[in-house]
Amino acid sequence: MGKTASFSCTACGAVHSKWSGRCEACGEWNTIVEEAQLSTGPASKSLGSKRGTPIQLADLATEEAPPPRTQSGIAELDRVLGGGLVPSSAILVGGDPGIGKSTLLLQAAAKFGAAGVKVFYVSGEEASAQVRLRAQRLGLGDAPVQLATATSLRDILTTLEAEKPDLVIIDSIQTMWADNVESAPGSVAQVRASAHELTTFAKRKGTSVILVGHVTKEGQIAGPRVVEHMVDTVLYFEGERGHQFRILRSVKNRFGPADEIGVFEMTGAGLAEVTNPSALFLSDRGDPAPGSVVFAGIEGTRPVLVEMQALVAPTPHSQPRRAVVGWDSARLAMILAVLEARCGIPFAGLDVYLNVAGGIKISEPAADLAVAAALLSAREDTALPQNCVLFGEISLSGALRPVAQTGNRLKEAKKLGFTSAILPSGGKSEGSGGLTLTQMSDLTGFVGEIFGA
Ligand code: TYD
Ligand code: MG
Repeated sequence: MGKTASFSCTACGAVHSKWSGRCEACGEWNTIVEEAQLSTGPASKSLGSKRGTPIQLADLATEEAPPPRTQSGIAELDRVLGGGLVPSSAILVGGDPGIGKSTLLLQAAAKFGAAGVKVFYVSGEEASAQVRLRAQRLGLGDAPVQLATATSLRDILTTLEAEKPDLVIIDSIQTMWADNVESAPGSVAQVRASAHELTTFAKRKGTSVILVGHVTKEGQIAGPRVVEHMVDTVLYFEGERGHQFRILRSVKNRFGPADEIGVFEMTGAGLAEVTNPSALFLSDRGDPAPGSVVFAGIEGTRPVLVEMQALVAPTPHSQPRRAVVGWDSARLAMILAVLEARCGIPFAGLDVYLNVAGGIKISEPAADLAVAAALLSAREDTALPQNCVLFGEISLSGALRPVAQTGNRLKEAKKLGFTSAILPSGGKSEGSGGLTLTQMSDLTGFVGEIFGA
């Protein structure tokens, strides 16, 4: 069989028959590259021998207890993993270059090592001396972790077969190079082949594998999305470069809840756990100012209070600006439309900026009411009552819909010294004793009550 060229997208891994400037699968520009195909032998026409006999689900042994999880002792990491590391599992940790993935995993490796786990840390990016220097800086110079600098997948697998570690960390998957694939390290084919071999090894040998994957907007190297479906757990390490907060978020987890977050702070001595993120996110909040409101959110299983800031100003342009940091811009457009259509408050001719303080990304629709309140407060130049939190989803009709975990949100607000809350009617609000609750059924009522419009 002759080799045919194929084209694949470095962002999402989609395969195309010809080159084009834009990937039709994911919509990214300039991400399609030519790849030599894996040379496979001629397809056999005869059927294979009868192997892989299926078994009845009911016949599978069920007495076995779930595999014991190993805790790292870094509570923020263990929770995101769903309670600790599961043997034979494959985990992908993705994130922007420089966000702190290597730092996090070196700290985790040291902790796991100290807990009696045999850990291999394979660095394909930094020389051993660099990794050791970093470890010393983090105060982990004598941690029981085996360190290797290698990029050849063959060598790595040979070593792993011989040493049988409990956990291997590959930093990063984009530097791995499999000799049976004829393309450069970092290409879709290489990343896919290396990840496949490593995850198969994990399942076969009872070793857990953590793969580090860089996310690049430019699509220069294959994005971790190519690997996502091969692994059990996908974690993303996110945060703004200028902020010290880092959030480890699980977006897929076969062994625990997805959408769980762990909060860290980047310090001079590595990543420090943040056990009370609300206090941190609200720490530099001053007196109540127009455009600033506090949203009582839930991230994973944990309540998190964050400050939402809006700025509304007359635009010098014919097309007003809508800029959002930390929230969904389509959702902002929807709320502006609802405010205009249902409450008669126009934003035409006004630039709108919305920012979630602290560099956290909020994806809950429960933030709708807080966003609407921040926008109105900025537009009317009126501060909301002091020590008040808000939450609630806004529907296109302008109705306020109750959201999940009302009680937990209120409890967290109370714990942090807030005295009142504005929320949709109908939510279960037990545990809110001591808070003054204002329950509303629609946005028009809210506007009238708070802004007297
Ligand atoms: P790194 O873990 O190398 O990022 P990644 O592996 O995701 O590319 O982190 C690099 C950044 O972290 C770098 O800008 C310096 C910063 N940093 C600290 O602020 N404190 C520290 O103790 C360490 C080790 C790094
Ligand atoms: Mg790194």
